Amino acid sequence: MIIGIIGSGAMGAGIAQVVATAGHTVRLLDQNAQALQRAGSAMQASLTRLAEKGKLTTEAAAATFARLHLTQDVTTFGDCELVLEAIVEDLAVKQQLFREVEMLVSDTCILASNTSSLSIASIAAACRKPERFIGIHFFNPAPIMQLVEVIPAVQTRAGLAEEVRDLVQSWGKLPVLTRDTPGFIVNRVARPFYGEAIRILEEGIADLATIDWAMTELGGFRMGPFALMDFIGHDVNYRVTESVFASFFYDPRFKPSFTQKRLFEAGYYGRKSGRGFYSYAADAVPPEP
Ligand code: NAI
Repeated sequence: MIIGIIGSGAMGAGIAQVVATAGHTVRLLDQNAQALQRAGSAMQASLTRLAEKGKLTTEAAAATFARLHLTQDVTTFGDCELVLEAIVEDLAVKQQLFREVEMLVSDTCILASNTSSLSIASIAAACRKPERFIGIHFFNPAPIMQLVEVIPAVQTRAGLAEEVRDLVQSWGKLPVLTRDTPGFIVNRVARPFYGEAIRILEEGIADLATIDWAMTELGGFRMGPFALMDFIGHDVNYRVTESVFASFFYDPRFKPSFTQKRLFEAGYYGRKSGRGFYSYAADAVPPEP
């Protein structure tokens, strides 16, 4: 199968690795040449590491990398059988992208979004053939995280969700079918996880290192809420919070916080920018709980 992925940031690059490893030819596109090069180098480095650890033969690593085609030219997507986008979390931008993609691909090409919070129906509505549209939502980092949410929209044709679920399963992932509701399963459950943690901080109940420590050491979570928000990126995470809040008709349970909004406005996106709730500068001292 030939799969087109649009957006080669944190998610698109990881998803490209997953599907190339599963044996598909991948066309990976980004409007930013640097992001594209970074994705290519990261995938090569990751495959080399796997080969060094003996999890992949050197030949298999080379063959996987050879299946990846980096491009800035969307007209090369004409032969794709599935196009999945992982670009900025902005409805109008995603809709415009699919209007362009639909002019290039065949009528049987499946179109999919990796959106965390936008309604699949609203993105599909921009398409000429919305019945071939579906949500395929990976988690970060895509090569490692097992879970993938598969989200049919009201317009999605009968049977496509099951086809996509089986395809995702063939990639070695654990797909779960979910309804097209704000945040689907995981991001809905995760909003109060982040939101309450920030409120505990704002109310002075504990500092952020203590909250993270408690959630990992006592709560059994892999990452505490602040470390996880910094990992995801506040540009992405804040937008998702705003979107879920608005989508639930401004239900106060999902209200965003000014603390995170200010980080977002300042460009303190977390790991990716070197500063978020924590500092990731080389000389930064990690806070003690
Ligand atoms: P990112 O900011 O790391 O990457 C986005 C990439 O898309 C950038 O390289 C940018 O240059 C490119 N881009 C933006 N607009 C474009 C366009 N019109 N055409 C071509 N390329 C374009 O973002 P990230 O984190 O990879 O998120 C992407 C999507 O995946 C979002 O919808 C987000 O909600 C979703 N998502 C993010 C997760 C996360 O933990 N970061 C987890 C699951 C889903």
